[in-house]
Amino acid sequence: MAGARWRRPAPMVAADAPAHPPATVRLAKFLAHAGVASRRSAETLIAAGRVSVGGQIVTDPARDVGPDSGVTVDGKALAGPEPRVLYMLNKPPGVVSTVRDTHGRTTVLELVPADGLRLYPVGRLDVDTSGLILLTNDGELANRLIHPRFQVPKTYRAKLGGGSVSRDALEALRSGVQLEDGITAPAQARRVSAHEIELTIREGRNRQVRRMCKAVGHPVLALERTRFGPLALAGLELGACRRLGEAEAERLRALACGPAGGAL
Ligand code: URA
Repeated sequence: MAGARWRRPAPMVAADAPAHPPATVRLAKFLAHAGVASRRSAETLIAAGRVSVGGQIVTDPARDVGPDSGVTVDGKALAGPEPRVLYMLNKPPGVVSTVRDTHGRTTVLELVPADGLRLYPVGRLDVDTSGLILLTNDGELANRLIHPRFQVPKTYRAKLGGGSVSRDALEALRSGVQLEDGITAPAQARRVSAHEIELTIREGRNRQVRRMCKAVGHPVLALERTRFGPLALAGLELGACRRLGEAEAERLRALACGPAGGAL
């Protein structure tokens, strides 16, 4: 579990992280994503000869283009949509998971290279909690990943006070604990040692793990999130971040497009 001291490590990039914005899209879709017009109106613009690609008028709405294709509408250049990026950060304790902090504390955004993109955290960790937090500029995906409907599992390691963790306490954590905002959903709980447990929950209530543990007689002394959905910290240094690869991003999108979801 994380100690209190950390130094800012160099960012890491997943082997299959895209170096450039992803694949090309059809011209009409490109215009729609750039906010020029709806897909249907974009097709009309294209048919009217008002759109050019690389200096040539194009009337085929199915023409594949990307941000570097030199798309213009009525002679005005379009940059195209921002590439969607996802980062995993091992948040140190003491760093806040908000975009800004009125008390001048370090924010998670300061630990991730944004490269001019507007990133924001996917959900929150308490300031004292360390571990895995995602940051992205994909608002739709972020909203789905934290929405209770999608029940994304999150795993925590908790060092507990209150003596050796009993079988009864574990069983109560598993079956549901009465909190002031209602009983918690079934969870997975296992003892790691006499004073440490691993807990997986699918909800995301405020300070939920701390409140659950306290309710069963074991106040949390240190808390770390080790997994978020299919992703694990897996040796990422405290304070370090890495850009997720395409395969990892796809697994997250699949979670957010499940039976309750629909296409992103
Ligand atoms: N539960 C908590 O109590 N704190 C966190 O930071 C995350 C989950």
